[in-house]
Amino acid sequence: MNVELRKIEKEDLEQLRQWRMQENVTKYMLTDPIISPEDQIQWFEKISNDGTRVDYVILVDNEVVGYYGITNIDKENKSCEVGFYIGDEKYRGVGVFSKAHKIIEDIVSHDLKLSQIVIIALKDNPACEAYVNMGFVIDQSYNNVCNKSGIPYKLVKLIKKVG
Ligand SMILES: CC(C)(COP(=O)(O)OP(=O)(O)OC[C@H]1O[C@@H](n2cnc3c(N)ncnc32)[C@H](O)[C@@H]1OP(=O)(O)O)[C@@H](O)C(=O)NCCC(=O)NCCS
Repeated sequence: MNVELRKIEKEDLEQLRQWRMQENVTKYMLTDPIISPEDQIQWFEKISNDGTRVDYVILVDNEVVGYYGITNIDKENKSCEVGFYIGDEKYRGVGVFSKAHKIIEDIVSHDLKLSQIVIIALKDNPACEAYVNMGFVIDQSYNNVCNKSGIPYKLVKLIKKVG
């Protein structure tokens, strides 16, 4: 299984739009957006001109299976956040994220020259345990919630030093 990342292109937008609204993705994300095709094109134009982020699709053997974004790039504090999902369910649980994350760590430390990666996740996302096993440390002082459809969800901040 060959896992690669490539920067998002226009032809990826419709697939990403559908995955981002898919129940088994959006229930683990911090927002539940309803995204029209026009919204998606606007989003792409906005992110293409945003120096604080780099957005990729995850490829398995040349097939697009998910999204991995580096956001909130903060050169001063040498920090960034990451957000990701595997949209195609048959590619979950087979090590795609682990491999994609290794590539991201390399980009973050060598290309962007940052030293810290942050994940803000829903506290009840079972994947948080995996992030800890990958070397992320929970910031115990972080105590935020996000609201989805009027329901508050506890968040957890996970930090990993890289490079
Ligand atoms: C979280 C997610 C990206 C993991 O991707 P994946 O390719 O399935 O993960 P991998 O197969 O590389 O597994 C990596 C590790 O995480 C663990 N893991 C993955 N998904 C898990 C889950 N839902 N619950 C518990 N552990 C999980 C695996 O067991 C593995 O641990 P190991 O290395 O000790 O065996 C994927 O499940 C997903 O897209 N979830 C929905 C969206 C989401 O939660 N995004 C993250 C928001 S913070």
